[in-house]
Amino acid sequence: MKGIILAGGLGTRLYPLTGATSKQLLPVYDKPMIYYPLSVLMQAKIFEILIISTRSDLPRFQALFKDGAHLGLKISYKIQENPGGIAEAFLIAEDFIGEDSVCLILGDNIFYGPNLEEMLDDVKDHKEGAVVFTYHVQDPTRYGVVAFDEDGEVIDIIEKPKIPPSPYAVTGLYFYDNDVISIAKSLQPSARGELEITDVNKVYLERKSLRVKFFGRGFAWLDTGTFDALYKASSYVQTIQERQGIQIACIEEIAYKNGWIDVAMLKGLAKVYHASTYGSYLEGLCPSNDMQLI
Ligand code: TTP
Repeated sequence: MKGIILAGGLGTRLYPLTGATSKQLLPVYDKPMIYYPLSVLMQAKIFEILIISTRSDLPRFQALFKDGAHLGLKISYKIQENPGGIAEAFLIAEDFIGEDSVCLILGDNIFYGPNLEEMLDDVKDHKEGAVVFTYHVQDPTRYGVVAFDEDGEVIDIIEKPKIPPSPYAVTGLYFYDNDVISIAKSLQPSARGELEITDVNKVYLERKSLRVKFFGRGFAWLDTGTFDALYKASSYVQTIQERQGIQIACIEEIAYKNGWIDVAMLKGLAKVYHASTYGSYLEGLCPSNDMQLI
């Protein structure tokens, strides 16, 4: 399975923060925003990853991750010239996806919760159809929203409904089989001129090959698109990390736990970041320091 992080867009709701930089490079507490979606792909054991961003922002992502080899990853990059919609990712990524299935994650989405790895485990080998994840939100009108019949079966997905049929929003994490490329090619732009991911999901729903999974209570799906949301996401990460002494979205830790990098590589990375608490955390993960941790 291949992985795509869609990290373009204009980030207009965050102007002037995003006047000269990408939203997905802004800090969420102690790391760039894109670390969070990248960590999700890595937790799903996906190591071939395409980062899509704007022409002006892409070089900054390349500077940050290079080819990904230091994390045991194979990262490549593609430009989205204009924000033509989330589903445009599959057109841009056609060659990268090849014959594979694919997981798409939005570069500004943060997922954190106790059962995340298990849920990803359950879908990562998925070869046919689509899997999307929903989350109970306070204000569903800003999202694609799932409608259920009285038996709890999904009957529709409605993009930004004025009157939401349920409080369950579709999150920015999607798994698809290879048909997603031809489905994306068949789409017409919506009234706002975008290729809508909701339209992709509706095709799978019509084919009866859409699985809808739920992130439940105690799970965090955080938005970062506005000043308040960004601030709250940072605060959430800071609170959990400080209380528990663990890092959220520590990509080096995940690479090490996945067996993609060895201790020597982890130590090398810890050295690079030695001046920050992030670096100290990496040092603490190195086996020679196990005794100190206990
Ligand atoms: P949005 O939040 O819808 O758009 P945005 O990030 O440009 O922000 P704003 O509304 O403030 O202008 O995008 C959600 C995510 O998807 C975000 O990570 C950007 C990404 N995206 C693209 O990369 N390309 C696109 O064409 C679209 C629509 C979104």
